[in-house]
Amino acid sequence: MKLKILVGTMTSTADYVAQSIQMDCGDLIDEIEVTMMDGRDISAFDEDALYLICTSTYGSGDVPDNARMLYESMSSQPKFLGHVRYGVIALGDRTYMQTFCFGGKKFDERLQDLGAQRIGEVWCHDASAGTLAESEGTAWCREWLALATAHVPATA
Ligand SMILES: Cc1cc2nc3c(=O)[nH]c(=O)nc-3n(C[C@H](O)[C@H](O)[C@H](O)COP(=O)(O)O)c2cc1C
Repeated sequence: MKLKILVGTMTSTADYVAQSIQMDCGDLIDEIEVTMMDGRDISAFDEDALYLICTSTYGSGDVPDNARMLYESMSSQPKFLGHVRYGVIALGDRTYMQTFCFGGKKFDERLQDLGAQRIGEVWCHDASAGTLAESEGTAWCREWLALATAHVPATA
């Protein structure tokens, strides 16, 4: 099985997290592909893969600029995503109390609306906590991958 990580970022933290996962979690899954969300639309979910949304939050609880087209296409060109199994890494900062990690949470909400199945809980990283998103995110992802690969429906 392939893990496809879709990255939404302004200042690259989410990209570093995705790259760290790609380097550290290769023993848990056949292939890991890191794809920036730039210029992508809902067809990004057409592949037969396990998906990981890895995105930060900007503005007042918005998705980053490079994630906007993908996020908006999920409303403007909606389609049933029942085949999609996914997880969410949401980067944010608790200083923004009202909109903490809304970038990732918004993707989660939209994916659920379209019938996709989330594995595990949305994982949130708080930039004000002083912990490294890369190392914490990779540790979370190892547990998440164990859960996700244990629940793969058997192929005929
Ligand atoms: C201008 C600006 C606005 C932000 N707005 C929010 C917000 O509304 N909610 C939140 O949880 N984090 C917010 N953040 C924090 C970022 O999401 C956080 O620092 C994240 O780790 C950045 O990741 P990136 O480098 O991948 O873009 C904001 C940061 C900046 C600079």
